[in-house]
Amino acid sequence: MDKSFLWGGSTSAFQFEGGGHEGRKGKSIYDIREEKTQVKYSVTSDFYHHYKEDIALMAEMGFSAFRMSIAWTRLYPTGVEETPNFEGIKFYQDVFQELKKNKIEPVVTLFHWDMPQYLVEKYDGFKSREIITYFERYAETCFKEFGQYVKYWLTLNENNLAMMIPWMYIKDKNNYPKEEHAQLAWDCYYHSILCHFKAVKRGHELLPDAKFGNMTASAIAYPLTPKPEDVLATQKHNQRTMWDDLDILTSGEINPSFKQRMADEGVVINISDEDRELMADSNAKIDFISFSYYFSLCTQAAENRNNSEAETMQMLYQGFYNPYLSRTSFGWQIDPLGIRIFMNEAYSRYHLPLLVVENGIGVEDEVLTKDKRVHDDYRIDYLAKHIHQIIKTVDEDKTPVLGFLPWGCIDLYSASGNYNKRYGFVYVDFEDDLARYKKDSFWWYKKVIASNGKELEKIDSTDCNKQS
Ligand code: BG6
Repeated sequence: MDKSFLWGGSTSAFQFEGGGHEGRKGKSIYDIREEKTQVKYSVTSDFYHHYKEDIALMAEMGFSAFRMSIAWTRLYPTGVEETPNFEGIKFYQDVFQELKKNKIEPVVTLFHWDMPQYLVEKYDGFKSREIITYFERYAETCFKEFGQYVKYWLTLNENNLAMMIPWMYIKDKNNYPKEEHAQLAWDCYYHSILCHFKAVKRGHELLPDAKFGNMTASAIAYPLTPKPEDVLATQKHNQRTMWDDLDILTSGEINPSFKQRMADEGVVINISDEDRELMADSNAKIDFISFSYYFSLCTQAAENRNNSEAETMQMLYQGFYNPYLSRTSFGWQIDPLGIRIFMNEAYSRYHLPLLVVENGIGVEDEVLTKDKRVHDDYRIDYLAKHIHQIIKTVDEDKTPVLGFLPWGCIDLYSASGNYNKRYGFVYVDFEDDLARYKKDSFWWYKKVIASNGKELEKIDSTDCNKQS
């Protein structure tokens, strides 16, 4: 493994940052959710007040990179202001300076789902084209204010899901008749990718030395059987869920099968000459592919299904369980080879380096012992197996991988709104003043990083006691 490989972890603002009522931050869709559900998005792990302590913990583990997102509403409280909020800029500059001081490279996502509520109310988020101007203004501010600190930028988190769940960023899909939902999905997705292209183009113009990537949710599907119909169904599934989006982002064009799918669904596509020009612009092309990977799934052709009920895997994916794999307590299949299969295929398609920006095992009700320890062997086991395959991808398959930034490196709120689902190397006590405690995996990951991925074997927990 190259010495420049980035080792670190990953978070997002709405799940980790907190400080929701401070620094003149505006409300995002998650703050509205807080009002309805009492889930404390305005607090979460409170990185806002703990950032020095958290960065010190990252530095202690040996992180060379840390992925975080900017809260759009911290810079533009409603999204439409003419000038940015100074307090918001100052907060992120302080964080970036602290990271730099600790020799940690920030990897920054511009948009991790926390759409300004004002834009939802006024324009229905990405449903409206108007949003592109505001997103471009916000992205440009980020590049101008933070460009001196940030080399790696990601545009929109898991944007390939935008076709499947466009409702995430709009007020209420039920405001639209069912027969318009396919068009609605396309409108939201299309405006979001125009935001992506605008940001990458402007970013390359303003910061010629920086690198810009997208963020793909990868969940590679395998055929449930070797029946050719199942293989074809799987190929189409992967095309629809992952490659269609990456095809557009890398080529600037909608591939013919995607166009056909939209025509079949009665979707009308209005792509202006200006849009075409933007998407074709070499400055608007990504430099690397970043992705999340948690599990794989199996698919099968409808005609081969004995049981028409596909088991729900997780999130949006309907699929079948793979009889050769075990699962996490949340039912997500554990498939370390899957990350390698995804990366090799993505590289052979697009010839761009890969960056792992999410991976890990979410566990509910982790036990904090009386002496404030968490014996998370399952996490060590899960991550060791995935890292092992990433190393093989680089060394044996010769697919370039820039780094490994597993999800929720310090405990944070799950996207599904459950803060008992934890991913971190550091335990956050949400019941007791948000105190931070090092889990066994903390010491293990520190060794992994120090050995550049060579020492993956589990460490003895008595060892952890000695080192604390
Ligand atoms: C990814 C998201 O889809 O999965 C994260 O980018 C999310 O925001 C992560 O937290 C894990 O999902 P969950 O539901 O376990 O939090």
